[in-house]
Amino acid sequence: MDRNFALEFVRVTEAAALESARMMGRGDEKMADQAAVEAMRKALNTIQFDGTVVIGEGERDEAPMLYIGEKVGKSGGPKLDLALDPLEGTTICARGGNNSLSVIAIAEEGKFLHAPDTYMQKIAVGPDAKGVIDLRATATENLRNIARAKKCHIEDLTVVILDRPRHTDLIAEVRHTGARIYLIGDGDVSAAIATCKRDSGVDVLMGSGGAPEGVISAAALRCMGGDFQGQLLFRNEDEKSRASKMGITDFNRIYQINDLASGHVMFCATGVTQGAFLNGVRFFSGGAMTHSVVMRSLSGTIRFIDAEHHFDRKPQY
Ligand code: FBP
Repeated sequence: MDRNFALEFVRVTEAAALESARMMGRGDEKMADQAAVEAMRKALNTIQFDGTVVIGEGERDEAPMLYIGEKVGKSGGPKLDLALDPLEGTTICARGGNNSLSVIAIAEEGKFLHAPDTYMQKIAVGPDAKGVIDLRATATENLRNIARAKKCHIEDLTVVILDRPRHTDLIAEVRHTGARIYLIGDGDVSAAIATCKRDSGVDVLMGSGGAPEGVISAAALRCMGGDFQGQLLFRNEDEKSRASKMGITDFNRIYQINDLASGHVMFCATGVTQGAFLNGVRFFSGGAMTHSVVMRSLSGTIRFIDAEHHFDRKPQY
């Protein structure tokens, strides 16, 4: 995969972030998501590649654009698979909260898990705790091992957990260990990425969230040298049968980071609202500033891009 693609794809997340950021705080999640989806699709179709959306806005009958299986790109280039979320944290953006992102991960054909739109049990850590996490173990055992790897006390660790009733027992267990907890309303991709940033103050992500977001997080953590494990959680037989159609045979499997995103992976994200990892879009007279990250698993280079956009000179996609 040509490394210059990374810069092509960051234009895509910038375009989606610029459009959805206009909808910040308007209280309309659908409108914010729609703006991001339309902008991302237009921008993708300016790039010379044969792209297939494998993680997207849903299945064809439920998502008019960027649905799973949709072909994108100006054909004629390399065959690439995309795992994307034009607006990760739709509620965050609609409420004007922190940490909504536009994200896209790119891999060679067949390298992402085709994850159904179910939940996924997740654990994510940064590079200094790589190799010590295990979803089969209890939260207490994991935190003990992570603290040992990071040469600190469990009380020094901060665990991010989505604030949901389904996490009541997990929260109680983590509290019992003495670790600190950061409860978030939404946006576990951003939280997973934060585990890899030394000064984010976040050490671990635990709990369940969207499975598609799990694949996207794994792609980002592959680039950053972190670690991730996921296990699909099915709520009913319908979800299992949809998963079977996507090629999933073992419903209890614990996916390692490389099972979710293998081979050479690229990851681009642009901040929509202000966040711990990326600044949000800031508008000024006639333009806007965006803050993005571009990373590649092959080189491990993490490149932050501050861009100043002037709307009178921007291309019409
Ligand atoms: P959206 O951007 O699709 O709204 O997802 C936000 C999110 O918080 C994800 O980050 C997370 O994985 C998932 O929703 C959690 O799902 P739920 O809100 O059903 O607990």
